[in-house]
Amino acid sequence: MADYQPVLKAVVPAAGLGTRFLPATKATPKEMLPVVDKPAIQYVVEEAVSAGLHDVLMITGRSKRSIEDHFDRAYELEEALRAKGDEQRLAAVRESSDLATMHYVRQGDPRGLGHAVHCARGHVGNEPFAVLLGDDMIDARDKLLTRMIEVRQRYGGSVVALQEVAPDQVSSYGCAAITGTDEDDVVRITDLVEKPSVEEAPSNWIIIGRYVCDPAVFDVLEKTPPGRGGEIQLTDALRTLADTPAEEGGGVYGVKFRGRRYDTGNKLEYLRTVVQFASERDDLAPEFMPWLREFVARHDAS
Ligand code: G1P
Repeated sequence: MADYQPVLKAVVPAAGLGTRFLPATKATPKEMLPVVDKPAIQYVVEEAVSAGLHDVLMITGRSKRSIEDHFDRAYELEEALRAKGDEQRLAAVRESSDLATMHYVRQGDPRGLGHAVHCARGHVGNEPFAVLLGDDMIDARDKLLTRMIEVRQRYGGSVVALQEVAPDQVSSYGCAAITGTDEDDVVRITDLVEKPSVEEAPSNWIIIGRYVCDPAVFDVLEKTPPGRGGEIQLTDALRTLADTPAEEGGGVYGVKFRGRRYDTGNKLEYLRTVVQFASERDDLAPEFMPWLREFVARHDAS
């Protein structure tokens, strides 16, 4: 096995405008919308940390200050909780600031996901790194990112997470042409298309928002012209890398994910995610679930 540098850093793009959730996101970043009682972005940082990535760079933009505050200490609040002897809430408040070493860079000009990732270059340097998109949440029990890092350590190059979807869904995602390897859950990627029509789609396997990138992606991104939607697409840069020799940081692999993914990127999926998370909480489910059942029955009857 080749000796590849370890993956230690995570990059979390969080500069989007969140237009799907207006007016809630007029002054609050969409990343801060709560899934039960934790902002969505905290689950994503927890996932990075649980895969061993303690250095997290967030790519932010205007009106994102509350994200920085969330991962920082909150002395007045902590003091007030301490004075009340409310140890439980104090621990909850401290959790997010103790999680990881957080760094921030502003994207300024929002020119697409590829451009956001390129903004990480100064911080990441010449090391492989993970990218986690906040709209996708992976169940904490399913160790997708850990598996992707293992695959990078074995094969080098870059690694994307893939999920099989119904054909009519491919047009919302990056879509991959794949060939098998000798590992059941690992494929080699031969082509990638960002948001293809059903006819153009090379398969039903779509990219979900987890990547491990070789640092060679930065040079490629610099030369990648705007693609779908007039934006610089990470998918397009990875497509170039799929065709680049391994000695130059090329090669792209996919990990087939068959676990639990939650979407918080649109209203309907967000509501489903909140209900699913609530249904698994010991402190809420005993009261929430009977209410939910009764509510649905009552609703159906009327
Ligand atoms: C982005 C990527 C796309 C990927 C998706 C996963 O799209 O460009 O390739 O499939 O994330 O959520 P976006 O959802 O930002 O439009």
